[in-house]
This record gives sequence, C-alpha cells and structure tokens, in this order.
Amino acid sequence: MKKPKKWFVLWLTGLSWAGKSTVADNLFSLLKEKWYSSMERLDWDIVRENLTKDLGFTKEDRKTNIERVAFVSKLLSRNWVWVLSTFISPYESERTMVKNHVTNYIEVFINAPLEICEARDVKWLYKKAREWIIPNFTGISDPYEEPANPHINLKTWEESIDESVEKVYRYLRNNWYL
Ligand code: ADX
Repeated sequence: MKKPKKWFVLWLTGLSWAGKSTVADNLFSLLKEKWYSSMERLDWDIVRENLTKDLGFTKEDRKTNIERVAFVSKLLSRNWVWVLSTFISPYESERTMVKNHVTNYIEVFINAPLEICEARDVKWLYKKAREWIIPNFTGISDPYEEPANPHINLKTWEESIDESVEKVYRYLRNNWYL
C-alpha cells in the first residue's frame, strides 16, 4: 500500500439528506483499500451524541458545534490523520472559520436541491419541520448558505455515488494529496 504525501481535512457540507454520509462512507472505504494512512471520520450524529451533546440547532449552537469539530480536526490532521467531516455547516462564516483553523481544508459541496433531499428523507424530518414540529430546520425555517467557491461540487442528484467518489479521489490525486 502507498503512503500519502500530504494530510487534509475533507469538509463535506450540504443539506440534510443531500448525501454527505453516503459519499463519506464510500470514500472512506476506497481510501482505506488503497492508502496507508490513519483516517478519522467526524460525523454529525456521533459528534452530537458525544462532543456536542449539550447543543441544539440555534445559530449560536451550530457555531459552537462547528468550532469544536474544527478544533478536533486540527489536532487530528496535524498528527497525520486524514479527516472526513460531515456536517450541514450551513453558514459561510463557520466554514471560513474551519478553513482558517486547519491546514489543508478541502471543501466538498454535497449539492442536491431541497426537493430531492425532502424526497429522500425516510425519517420525515422535513415534513416535521414544515409542520413546525422541528424548529430552525435547515432549508425550511433556517438558512443554508451555499458554498461560493467549494473545491469540489458534487451534484448527487445527477451523478452516481461512484462518480461522486471518483471526483473527490481525482481531486486528491491532482492536488498531490495522494
Ligand atoms: S450543523 O448545522 O450544526 O452543522 P449537524 O450537521 O451537526 O448540523 O446536524 C444535522 C442533523 O441533525 C440533520 O441531518 C438532522 O438529522 C438533525 N437535525 C435535528 N434538528 C435539526 C435542525 N433544526 N436543523 C437541521 N438538522 C437538524
């Protein structure tokens, strides 16, 4: 197995059900198969059950959530661990904070229209948000600021998972991470 050249924090941002976890799952497997490097996933569900279980979804709480994740990402990546993070991270200001905090931040916009995300939502979260059962829901009653200049833009509604993963892999190769 080959050793990598550089380390990175791969930051997957997008609406709920846009496909962040699916892309991260498949990419993680591909990288593990081909490369010899430590790698850690920071996924919203595990993080919110542990590191940020005191937080909700107000603007302030989301900011704190992402700040803590940025801190952990920094510690990991500077110790030669690849980091794959999956958070909605809806505000440009938070994503800029992560970018400024860590070395080799790679922003991946997991891009899918709201209607597509709603159609995929088997947990009825969007429906509950539309009925005001869940407040401050991203895309419905809370904003999602689309990344202006992501390093990678994955249109998960018109490309296959393999194509999306391949795009990220190619980006890493072309930019000398691998
Ligand atoms: S973030 O805004 O702070 O980045 P994060 O990615 O950790 O959000 O959590 C998003 C997940 O929490 C969603 O995929 C959804 O399952 C759940 N969730 C619960 N309440 C909300 C809400 N009000 N807005 C968005 N997601 C919510």
